Amino acid sequence: MYDKINLLDAVGGTPIVKLNKIVPHDSAEVWVKLEGQNPTGSYKDRMAVSVLENAIKRGDVKTGERVVEYTGGSTGTSLAFVCSVLDLKFTAVTSDAFSKIKHQSIEAFGADLVVIKSKNGNITPDLIQKMKIKASELAKEPQTFYADQFGSSDVIKGYEGLGKEIVDQVGKIDVLCSAVGTGGALMGTYNGIVISGVKPKLIALEPSQSPFLTTGKGGAHKVEGIGLGFAPPFLDKDKLDSVKSVDQDKAFDMCRLLAREEGLFGGGSTGLNICAAIEIAKEIGPGKKVVTLNCDTGLKYLGSHIYT
Ligand SMILES: Cc1ncc(COP(=O)(O)O)c(C=O)c1O
Repeated sequence: MYDKINLLDAVGGTPIVKLNKIVPHDSAEVWVKLEGQNPTGSYKDRMAVSVLENAIKRGDVKTGERVVEYTGGSTGTSLAFVCSVLDLKFTAVTSDAFSKIKHQSIEAFGADLVVIKSKNGNITPDLIQKMKIKASELAKEPQTFYADQFGSSDVIKGYEGLGKEIVDQVGKIDVLCSAVGTGGALMGTYNGIVISGVKPKLIALEPSQSPFLTTGKGGAHKVEGIGLGFAPPFLDKDKLDSVKSVDQDKAFDMCRLLAREEGLFGGGSTGLNICAAIEIAKEIGPGKKVVTLNCDTGLKYLGSHIYT
């Protein structure tokens, strides 16, 4: 349908790097896929392209119509970016618990924001519920398409390319681990790896302050995009080998260390992913490969509690 080359063609095809300095020598290798290099600086660009291109193909949304989603900001920024390229309008339901830079990015792409107030800037299950209710209300309006980042099967499909790229770049891998919000990135990436003929162990990660997967109960925390306090809709427990929780403060310390030592500048979920990947690499030992994701760029978190 889109025969002309546009910025959507710049989504994906990201580099992968091996961490050289902060992983002990008697550990497995830790490889990180640099998803912060997508056009809006997040792996969410992949799902936004998949959801909206497929919706247009099916006739679920047409040029000039509105797309609605509730989002902490990364998904919102990616949807706003893709909507601008595809001549769609976009409204993001978000909250002041998420970084201001993400809100400004959404607006920069010409989208509208509906901001729900949080209690003390914390991401809580109650806040996510309020955002969801508001988005459902807006989605009932005419000529409005609900992107449905928590339900659309196009979300998982959008990440299959990520998994295929990993196998093309590093070959056989032993473990894939990543933090989950919807679980779309982890499962889609895993599916892409399996389609390419490799079957790593699959480990889902969460902040220990919101340990829904390990204890059944969510909680207040400050790692944007993950630990939402309900079952990640795309997480297929049958494919999962284990779940690890990581303390958020260790994740934020890791963000700062990563930037200083490895030159890798990521957000809180990236720091959390790398804390866990290094722990796993120590456990499984040399001669093996652990792969995780740099979910987004640290630029989105400048001026926040991670990079003050
Ligand atoms: C920064 C960040 N990291 C991780 C995630 C989790 O990704 P997924 O929803 O695919 O599990 C998100 C989701 O919004 C995010 O914004």
